[in-house]
Amino acid sequence: MNKREIKTAKLTVDGDTYQLPIVVGTEGEMAIDISTLRSRTGLITLDPGYANTGSCKSSITYMDGENGILRYRGIPIEQLAEHSTFRETAYLLINGELPTKQQLDQFSARLNDHSLIHEDMRYFFQNFPRLAHPMGILSSMVNALRAFYPEIPERSEEEEINITFSRLISKVRTMAAISYRISRGHKVVYPRHDLSYCANFLNMMFDTPVKPYQIDEDIVAALNVFWILHADHEQNCSTAAVRLVGSAKVNLYAAISAGICALWGPLHGGANQAVIEMLQHIYENGGDPVPFIKKAKDKNDPFRLMGFGHRVYKTYDPRVKIMKKMCIKTLKKLNIKDPLVDVAERLEETALKDPYFIDHHLYPNVDFYSGIFLRAIGIPIKMFTVMFAIGRLPGWISQWKESVDDPQWKLHRPRQVYIGKTKRDYIPIEQRKE
Ligand code: SDX
Repeated sequence: MNKREIKTAKLTVDGDTYQLPIVVGTEGEMAIDISTLRSRTGLITLDPGYANTGSCKSSITYMDGENGILRYRGIPIEQLAEHSTFRETAYLLINGELPTKQQLDQFSARLNDHSLIHEDMRYFFQNFPRLAHPMGILSSMVNALRAFYPEIPERSEEEEINITFSRLISKVRTMAAISYRISRGHKVVYPRHDLSYCANFLNMMFDTPVKPYQIDEDIVAALNVFWILHADHEQNCSTAAVRLVGSAKVNLYAAISAGICALWGPLHGGANQAVIEMLQHIYENGGDPVPFIKKAKDKNDPFRLMGFGHRVYKTYDPRVKIMKKMCIKTLKKLNIKDPLVDVAERLEETALKDPYFIDHHLYPNVDFYSGIFLRAIGIPIKMFTVMFAIGRLPGWISQWKESVDDPQWKLHRPRQVYIGKTKRDYIPIEQRKE
């Protein structure tokens, strides 16, 4: 029977049979709709980590983990990386269509208008401990944006939301650069109206009065690709956090701040920092990947190959091929010989021949080469995940927008199976046994 003709699933419990509707996606994915399961059967499902559970229907990003496919609004990531810019891809994700020239110019003008931050916010940056991790600073400061930019009643809800989108995409980039400059005790560099989104970021990071930053269009183009590759990835951990927090109808800044916190984790976006630390450690211990692959396979050893494995991709992450090519091209352009590239390639080659990695479908993911690129363009390792966050903003925003516009919107509130103590009485303290 053709998949699309399957309309229901049968569930038999204790002799009773229930028909549950099947939902079929535009790419043929199928799901059992269990939204009436508890009311009809008294049963819930249990799925730790939600590996088998869809939280929503979405039109934004399509991933095929078995075949290594990634498309934003139907357009393959390979085409966007080759032809688009980060601004244009952000517009596509949020609005659903590629912009006309006029729409893109208006979007760019709005990003420029909202690129500065409230001057009083600088005092926050100046008072964080110098060694504070930039992801903790970023999530705090994004949450603080609501205090500095409260809703204006006279504005329509749609205008308020569009301005908030532009503020986030533009100001988060500015805040990341300001945070870096202040952490180094350097003079803050303001965004310029005559520079593009990516060129502005690089200039705000690296321009100094004594050594003006030379905008290199190849590096600007590479940074566009880096952020395009990170722009969205359907229901990953941080996007799920944004949707869950957003489901309580909290303001978007707070929901994005929650996404930044989730992304910080080394199992998620924090892996790009962990990969470089792992490669550096392998390099400092002779560069032979074999002992580390052995450790990664040892169930008694918590060590994992960072930048390897993925919940959805069971083959090459399509972003890796683009990232690796862009990384090697950038190193060549900057005439940088990074020994970690050889370590990474040896590690990749050795792991992909190992039965454990083959059997577990463990391949490099987006974080495996991204840190080598970031290091080459001068981004400090503690800012790697901030770079991921800036890229993921359009994805988080588009996913939040889709969830609040969803006619089936519901507060996210999972159930559980209780396995604790059954009913027992309170015991006064004098009767409790030591
Ligand atoms: C990102 O979801 C997204 O889309 C995320 C992301 C995005 O763009 O938003 O793509 C970005 O977060 C990429 C992932 C970055 N994280 C890492 O590189 C950290 C290292 N990778 C893993 O910890 C792991 O692969 C995860 C967390 C990414 C995915 O893990 P799963 O799907 O929860 O699988 P699992 O942890 O249950 O592992 C399944 C098996 C286990 O072995 P068994 O007990 O079944 O024998 O695979 C093994 C694991 O031990 N395994 C690894 C491994 N990853 C999984 N073994 C060694 N090294 C690894 N990296």
